[in-house]
Amino acid sequence: NKPFQKGIFWTQQGSHHYSVRIYQEGEDYHLLCLGEPHKVGQAEDNKAHLEKIESYLRKHFDVGEIDYTWGAQHYKSADKIPYIGKMPSDDRVFVATGFSTDGLIYGTLAGMLISDLIMGIENDLEKIYDPGRTNPLSTAKRFIKENINVAGQLLKDSPFKGDVKELTDVKPGEGKLIKLDSKNYTAYRDESGKLTVTSAICPHLGCVVHWNGAEKSWDCPCHGSRFSPEGEVLEGPSFEGLKKMEG
Ligand code: FES
Repeated sequence: NKPFQKGIFWTQQGSHHYSVRIYQEGEDYHLLCLGEPHKVGQAEDNKAHLEKIESYLRKHFDVGEIDYTWGAQHYKSADKIPYIGKMPSDDRVFVATGFSTDGLIYGTLAGMLISDLIMGIENDLEKIYDPGRTNPLSTAKRFIKENINVAGQLLKDSPFKGDVKELTDVKPGEGKLIKLDSKNYTAYRDESGKLTVTSAICPHLGCVVHWNGAEKSWDCPCHGSRFSPEGEVLEGPSFEGLKKMEG
């Protein structure tokens, strides 16, 4: 219940950076800490990231219980500038995305810019954040780097390496990859023992999904789609869930 200083504070410790802020709920104070960024589906152990954040917090602050932990996705454009403005394909639809972790700033800016665009008021920022812009010079390096990363993820899972040989090896609360009849599957057993088996292939562009044990989801390492343990879409770009195994 000890109040912390109000504000948002950023810290850089070697390659680790964190931001902390308080959230007050009645008489209770919560300390929110963000950090340990990593690509969706590419962490060996998602719990390890949460543990590092907790140990940073305990080292520097007088915190009690950890009430909530979660992972959130943030998007960056290839030139690192958000897309805010009219959709290139439809001038009655507006987009505001790619804020990285600066939602407070860019969310405010998006509100100001988009309301000007709707009202027909000239705004110097329109061109900078134009969702239809192309900056090949500033985006090429990052575009190539990201695509090499995606190719690496595809190769890493080829040939497919299952985690277990038998469905009986999947314990309650666990998700495992498994090869059955030469096909690649996910297998999740809920706490009551019910087993769900789906294709391990992401419907977006065909990469193999990986189990995220910290948040209990199947995560795709290629472009960040996430699926529930039973294969429903949690987050795009995939619109479709993981295909359920018949029978
Ligand atoms: Fe899975 Fe693209 S292949 S998100």
